[in-house]
Amino acid sequence: MAHKIAPSVLSCDFANIQRDVEMINDGNADWFHIDIMDGSFVPNISFGFPVMKAIHKHAKKPLDVHLMIDNPDQYIQDFKDAGAEILTVHYEACTHLHRTIQAIKAAGMKAGVAINPHTPVEVLENVIEDIDLALIMSVNPGFGGQKFIKNAIWKVEQLSNLIHKRGSHALIEVDGGVNADNAGDLIKAGADVLVAGSFVFNSENPNATIDKLKAL
Ligand code: DX5
Ligand code: ZN
Repeated sequence: MAHKIAPSVLSCDFANIQRDVEMINDGNADWFHIDIMDGSFVPNISFGFPVMKAIHKHAKKPLDVHLMIDNPDQYIQDFKDAGAEILTVHYEACTHLHRTIQAIKAAGMKAGVAINPHTPVEVLENVIEDIDLALIMSVNPGFGGQKFIKNAIWKVEQLSNLIHKRGSHALIEVDGGVNADNAGDLIKAGADVLVAGSFVFNSENPNATIDKLKAL
């Protein structure tokens, strides 16, 4: 299966959100990546439901929602109502991760689990058969435009082995500092979905940059 590209809306122009969403609609990106930050789990606040609903109103591709928030359980239905198709929570933010995953699926969404750069892949061992997506963070979450942490490539390889060993259907997503210099290595290591924020939106022609990432 060809890999997917999920541009991170965090790097778009929020004063022209409809324009930027329609631009992505017109190109070959696969998903919209939506970063939700609460100022508690991560040291930054991004945006909430009104902005997400505005994106959903114009988006013609699935919303891939990355929750960088504590206690995600209490908002699962709200994210469904705001248009999430895939809902990813952080391993580090969920005491009862198995329950959270089941609740996401019961609400009618695909369930993802993200792990921070310091968190070993093995922590996913007991949920890998339950999830639709595993997200390897290649920066410490909280901000766009950070430098890629190379160790993520090795973690993608480990995760790919775990997924095959357990017969899981989970997709491997990588998020943070992705660009044309590291995307090839990530795909070779087994990544199925690449998130790219600043590399796409800071480029002169975002859809051409997406095509470049897709062609690798
Ligand atoms: C980081 C976010 C990322 C971010 C990616 O906390 O989860 O999705 O927007 O942006 P770049 O590609 O600029 O690192
Ligand atoms: Zn993200």
